[in-house]
Amino acid sequence: MLNASLTLDPQSTIGPVRPHLFGSFVEHLGRCVYTGIFEPGHPNADEDGMRRDVIDLVKELGVTVVRYPGGNFVSGYRWEDGVGPLAERPKRLDTAWHSVEPNTFGIGEFVTWAKRAGVEPMVALNLGTRGVAEALDLLEYCNHSGGTHLSDLRAAHGYPEPFGVKMWCLGNELDGPWQLGHKTQEEYGRLAEETARAMRMVDPSLELVVCGSSHSQMPTFGVWEETVLEHAYDQVDLISLHAYYQPRDGDLASFLASSVDMESFIRQVAGIADRIGAKKGSSKRIDLSFDEWNVWYVSDFQDQGPPKDWPQAPPLLEDVYNIVDAVVVGSLLITLLRNSDRVAVACLAQLVNAIAPIHTEPGGPAWRHTTFHPFAQTADLARGDVLRVAVEAPFYHNERFGETPVVDAVATHDPDTGDVVLFAVNRSMEDSVSLSVSTSAFPDHRVFEHLVLTDDDLDATNTAESPDRVIPRSVGETRHELGTVELNLPRVSWNVIRLRA
Ligand code: AHR
Repeated sequence: MLNASLTLDPQSTIGPVRPHLFGSFVEHLGRCVYTGIFEPGHPNADEDGMRRDVIDLVKELGVTVVRYPGGNFVSGYRWEDGVGPLAERPKRLDTAWHSVEPNTFGIGEFVTWAKRAGVEPMVALNLGTRGVAEALDLLEYCNHSGGTHLSDLRAAHGYPEPFGVKMWCLGNELDGPWQLGHKTQEEYGRLAEETARAMRMVDPSLELVVCGSSHSQMPTFGVWEETVLEHAYDQVDLISLHAYYQPRDGDLASFLASSVDMESFIRQVAGIADRIGAKKGSSKRIDLSFDEWNVWYVSDFQDQGPPKDWPQAPPLLEDVYNIVDAVVVGSLLITLLRNSDRVAVACLAQLVNAIAPIHTEPGGPAWRHTTFHPFAQTADLARGDVLRVAVEAPFYHNERFGETPVVDAVATHDPDTGDVVLFAVNRSMEDSVSLSVSTSAFPDHRVFEHLVLTDDDLDATNTAESPDRVIPRSVGETRHELGTVELNLPRVSWNVIRLRA
């Protein structure tokens, strides 16, 4: 048993919990759209083919905003293919995922789905094979009220009301050589600035996200952000970050410390953005959109390679998550919350089937992977202000990050209800931690619930046969003494501790 401590202090406010931190991502990839959120003919599908069982799970997950339609897919996408009469929509080759795209689901269907799921749409533009003109066309189709060619076309397609899309991503991962239309930082910076400026001529109030690096190890990381912001700073609101984590060579100790990378990535990008702002003498601050993050066993996909025979909606990237994955997802959520002074948007990538918290069977049931739970609990319970908690914990050694604290934690305090919620992970593979929480700043508060996600079998997963094999479970007793609460955090565990006056 290890010992750790932390203090809950309502004065240590980082900033308000930003609702868009609980975003997700739907890409035309594998079975995320087709047989994921959309499956005409499924017993649970509504009149438009949207799976109601999946919508119920999306609501339970607490997702607030969903990015669409990619991802790598968007860099070759023609949005016009996905609108209008179904019989006239072309099938196309999707080179990003080596699949055939039937285009029976497009922007209109997505906005319909988003309304039913109660989420805000965040639309990504194709700045890989396309440019300013097509971005303006899509903006007109989506948001103009009427009386122009494309807004009238939308009405003729059955959507008289404008979609009112506020958040737009200026392309996707254009620093990556795998991206269709991959660009240098100079080329992309110019294009992003031109596109943003044109879009603002239509609507200055749009929220525009410029592409940052695809991950923190990209050879152009840093230079890319600097150059792109040199060009686009005045025209954009946010810069994107993407990060996926997986155990390398079975090294779970390093994998459990993945949030160390996320933390420094956030601080580095915020620092670069501020430096460019200072250089420009700008009073504006660029915030961060962590619009792709998750655990992804990407090497399995790389080993397998893309599908060979251009299938439609093949099962791609269908990672099945275990206990360790859920704890890592929990620690990444802690990191995002702790950085809510800079991270305005974050999207768990993705939502259904492809590296997702929700899994479906075609024609069959839908269920929650282990990673669903930390996300749903945080989206549900993180309210009010984010509190920094100074954790005193032993360190453990791991190959990738060196000495890393065994415990990571953050808290929220809702000034309206008085409720305090502590989110904590124990990264130790061997030892449980006795955590002493100083609550003297909240003298009347008591722990009324401590939920833990863990298991003796770290490989435990949820399946169609046992969809609730892994769920958060309540811990019975908690010791309170003179302004201190003693909690037990089992080894490799995600913990949610709720205190109320
Ligand atoms: O989410 C899977 C892929 O990861 C996305 O399509 C791409 O943007 C990223 O590389």
